[in-house]
Amino acid sequence: MRVAEAFQAAFGHEPEGTWHAPGRVNLIGEHTDYNNGFVLPFAVPWGVTTAVRRRTDGTVRLLSLQASGGPQVITELDRAQGWARYAAGVLWAFERAGHAVGGADIAIDGDVPQGAGLSSSAALEVSVATALNDLHGLGVSPIDLALLAQKAENDFVGMPCGIMDQAASALCEEGHALFLDCRSLGTRAVPLDLAAEGLELMIIDTGVHHELADGQYARRRADCEGAAERLGVESLRDVTDLAAALSVLEGDERKRTQHVVTENHRVEALIGLLRAGAAREIGALLNASHLSLRDQFEVSCPELDVAVESALRGGARGARMTGGGFGGSAIALVPAGGAGRVRQEVEQAYERHGWAAPRVFPEVTPAPGARRLT
Ligand code: GLA
Repeated sequence: MRVAEAFQAAFGHEPEGTWHAPGRVNLIGEHTDYNNGFVLPFAVPWGVTTAVRRRTDGTVRLLSLQASGGPQVITELDRAQGWARYAAGVLWAFERAGHAVGGADIAIDGDVPQGAGLSSSAALEVSVATALNDLHGLGVSPIDLALLAQKAENDFVGMPCGIMDQAASALCEEGHALFLDCRSLGTRAVPLDLAAEGLELMIIDTGVHHELADGQYARRRADCEGAAERLGVESLRDVTDLAAALSVLEGDERKRTQHVVTENHRVEALIGLLRAGAAREIGALLNASHLSLRDQFEVSCPELDVAVESALRGGARGARMTGGGFGGSAIALVPAGGAGRVRQEVEQAYERHGWAAPRVFPEVTPAPGARRLT
């Protein structure tokens, strides 16, 4: 395996094993995770493979096959730079949770399309976390590994994300989407075989990531927390009378609340349709989710809107932005055999706007979650 060879070449000894954790795409349930709500992601066929050997001297050496230059050698975790902060953050989170993981040689090899909003960082974190958990025999459960990885991202890297991406990477199952209740952290694997219903899911990577996106994410969180406080509930998940809630809220808080509460309903409705074998009918929910993210949550952007609108014109049964927004990817639910037309329509629309062609990934099916490879 490529990462094991690079490990041996860089560090002069063999790894003790290799592990893989995937990125994710979210079918529905956007900006609901940090509101204690519902999400329905599935693992994509791309991820991060990690080769590790423990060290007894406390030193950490980190190598990425995607970064130029040699390994980063760090004696203090806080000195890690760039991509290495995600791995160092996981070591930091283990220590903080009372697990002495000491030093390690770590090489990573990732193939999650960069900047596509498919959670390459969660894949990196969960891959490293799964490796260290196995090697040290810590027995941390997959959901607790996800929480640990989220802690690394929140408090070490400094991105205030929710739990969806790390949970998806740690817990997804092949052929299934993962229903996650972000309050109880209860999960259910929901069978997702779109091909059996004459459908396919296409990912359209806009190739853009708008400036200020990270600050906007924190602002949306703050709007939601402000609204919950005004309503006297712990989180927007706890709103049981939406009309009453909206009648006392104003401005951004009102709009954010309308999105979060209706999005939670859409997740439940979509699961109901999947369980009924009616995946052909989920398109309207995808479309409604997109409009709500665009107009109420205000996290879309022209490139995402054009991807969604042109995919629908090209024959998609439904489409929406996926992930945090302000760029990244959209998904389109396409009748089997219809991907070519959808793709053409999207590419032509991008060309008319003078934008670089988006990357299109057809027939994306649910991959397995984190696991040991060798
Ligand atoms: C990003 C975050 C997730 C989630 C989504 C929006 O991907 O990392 O926790 O909040 O945005 O649904």
